[in-house]
Amino acid sequence: MNENPMVHDLSLPVEHDGRALSGVASMSRAVTPGEIDVSHGAILYLEDVTVSFDGFRALNELSLSIDVGELRCIIGPNGAGKTTMMDVITGKTAPDSGKVFLGQTIDLTRMNEPSIARAGIGRKFQKPTVFEQHPVWENLELAMKTDKRWLASLRARLDRSAQARIEETLSLIRLEGEALRPAGELSHGQKQRLEIGMLLMQQPALLLLDEPAAGMTDDETMELAALLNHLRGTCSMMVVEHDMEFVAALAGETGKVTVMAEGRVLAHGTLDEVKRDAGVVESYLGR
Ligand SMILES: Nc1ncnc2c1ncn2[C@@H]1O[C@H](COP(=O)(O)OP(=O)(O)OP(=O)(O)O)[C@@H](O)[C@H]1O
Ligand SMILES: [Mg+2]
Repeated sequence: MNENPMVHDLSLPVEHDGRALSGVASMSRAVTPGEIDVSHGAILYLEDVTVSFDGFRALNELSLSIDVGELRCIIGPNGAGKTTMMDVITGKTAPDSGKVFLGQTIDLTRMNEPSIARAGIGRKFQKPTVFEQHPVWENLELAMKTDKRWLASLRARLDRSAQARIEETLSLIRLEGEALRPAGELSHGQKQRLEIGMLLMQQPALLLLDEPAAGMTDDETMELAALLNHLRGTCSMMVVEHDMEFVAALAGETGKVTVMAEGRVLAHGTLDEVKRDAGVVESYLGR
């Protein structure tokens, strides 16, 4: 189906062997179909990506890459193209030109939204979308990736491991005490954590979060930062955010921050480095 034999056909469900939570091939192992080749260290690679809306370049030859296991914060003024970049990565918007790869070999520009999600990219939108009438634990169960062929032969074993994963996720998102409550009764911050839990049930290799702290109280924001910091190593993450305290809590002193403006990368470095960048001060932080 693909001209390039190195590119996996991801129209089939991705197989999971249950060993790696993230579904990412270990750096030293040969790649098997459905796994992501991160042998060069990058989980996501964008090169010269351009997106135009009626001649206006929302992305203008944007290039960036995210290392496997990295938690990358993206900041930048309104209209910089941050959400458009996530739309391109998830297949919602097709770029006019440029390369978008998951790992070394998976060309995301050739895939549709469902197959990109199956390949291991989870996306968190700003507004939480949970099943309000259903209990918290059932939201997690409904979100779980299920491969019908597995289900047929391994029903009982899968049920037990599914139960264990739900419990593990409930504790990770700190909603053990709310497991039986309808999701509609949760606070905004709890709903946001539940939605992240639902994404985690699909075992993403890369999680994209667009302004996850928007509308949260200060306490909820710091609780979310703690959760994302805790997820390090489980999956790679790209977090777009305006709240600089939240960004500081995620980036720490050594984490890399990318500043976008006018559809491209304006600066890249530690939070301290980009804060001192003259162009960043002028176009974003100094305003
Ligand atoms: N579907 C679309 N049609 C036309 N223009 C669009 C569309 N989507 C985005 N744009 C424009 O592209 C530019 C980039 O928008 P985008 O939403 O990606 O910015 P952003 O960095 O996410 O901003 P914010 O911080 O406000 O969320 C904006 O000027 C926006 O108006
Ligand atoms: Mg946006």
